[in-house]
Amino acid sequence: MYIIGEEEVEAVRKVIESGQLFRYRGGEGGETDQFEKEWSEKIGVEHTIAVTNGTAALACAMIGLGIGPGDEVIVPAYTFMATAVAPLMAGAVPILAEVDESLTLDPIDVERKITPRTKAIMPVYMNGWPCNMEAIMGIAYKHGLKVVEDACQADGGSYKGKRLGSIGHASGFSFNHFKIISCGEGGAMCTNDHAVYERGLIYHDSGCCFRGHASEIESEFFVGTNFRMNEILAAILRVQLGRLDGILAGLRAEKKTIVCELANESAFKLNPMHDLDGDCGTTVSLLFETEAEARAFQKRLADEGIGAGCPIDSGLHVYTNWDPIMNYQGAHCSQVNAFNLTDTPPTYTMDMCEKTLSLLRRSIYLMTSPTRTKDDLMAFIAKVKKAARG
Ligand SMILES: Cc1ncc(COP(=O)(O)O)c(C=O)c1O
Repeated sequence: MYIIGEEEVEAVRKVIESGQLFRYRGGEGGETDQFEKEWSEKIGVEHTIAVTNGTAALACAMIGLGIGPGDEVIVPAYTFMATAVAPLMAGAVPILAEVDESLTLDPIDVERKITPRTKAIMPVYMNGWPCNMEAIMGIAYKHGLKVVEDACQADGGSYKGKRLGSIGHASGFSFNHFKIISCGEGGAMCTNDHAVYERGLIYHDSGCCFRGHASEIESEFFVGTNFRMNEILAAILRVQLGRLDGILAGLRAEKKTIVCELANESAFKLNPMHDLDGDCGTTVSLLFETEAEARAFQKRLADEGIGAGCPIDSGLHVYTNWDPIMNYQGAHCSQVNAFNLTDTPPTYTMDMCEKTLSLLRRSIYLMTSPTRTKDDLMAFIAKVKKAARG
């Protein structure tokens, strides 16, 4: 979350004063319905389902697409664990693929990981970075696979003119506290496929056969869960949505300046980017030849008063830290554990994505801000250059 203020307070006040906090049973046409319409328009998709969080959105996408036991879903080895949790929630197993120097899903390794059981690929836009979607969509088309975009860190980003989250068969967004826009906890599933939308709608609302709109649903009903959004959070999100383009413009302007200023430094190279214009601009990543060089640079930056992260340190974003998954504990009991529901369970080892680990050890992240003054930005860049030159 970058910017929040009085407008959000006012929007929440209105909802509370209205006495209608629930999206259904009197709330139809209210904040949540409006947000779904506005988000669909912003992203350029037919359907949005507002949900409680990004994990729920990705799970709805899995269930919506009919992914289930016996299926494999390819996910990157560098992402928040929730990406790999979503297939498990549907009864499928995640298969881990390397990232390349862009720190996004490596299309070459994706193709290597395809088996007769593969049903979907999940590109993840870590730090708002577009993936190589041309290659990923090409592979999916060639092998008859679905693509579920994990756009949880990329609210509003785009790739070659199309918004992230509108390129694959379904997508998930997060609006938790750390995201580009936020309501504390929230999410959205998007799709252009009406049947996928209907199944997501059923799943996110306990089976929804009891709702007024149930008569319009053509898909078969099944038991779901409860991932419903509420009117207070949707009201906050509608205000946040109005801020989205401004936030992105600020972040992108900073990233472009930093990229331009650092392009010719010899101590590191910029990790390759698949679409700088569509990149959300939150993070500039610098790639070093060795981990020792990366760490020495990080230390010199700290001496200059600049905190810069090394992604290998980022806990649950690195597969080696996904303990329940690495231990094949895919659910709360063995009968519904996806690893027991396939004839060919995957084998996970700590070194199975060594290229990813090496890249994460050798990268250093610089963070941008949509509100920093130009003078402060140039002073920041000067310190980075000083640290780079030792
Ligand atoms: C890449 C990625 N996927 C999925 C999620 C899950 O989103 P949420 O925390 O809203 O459930 C996150 C959230 O941090 C994320 O960063």
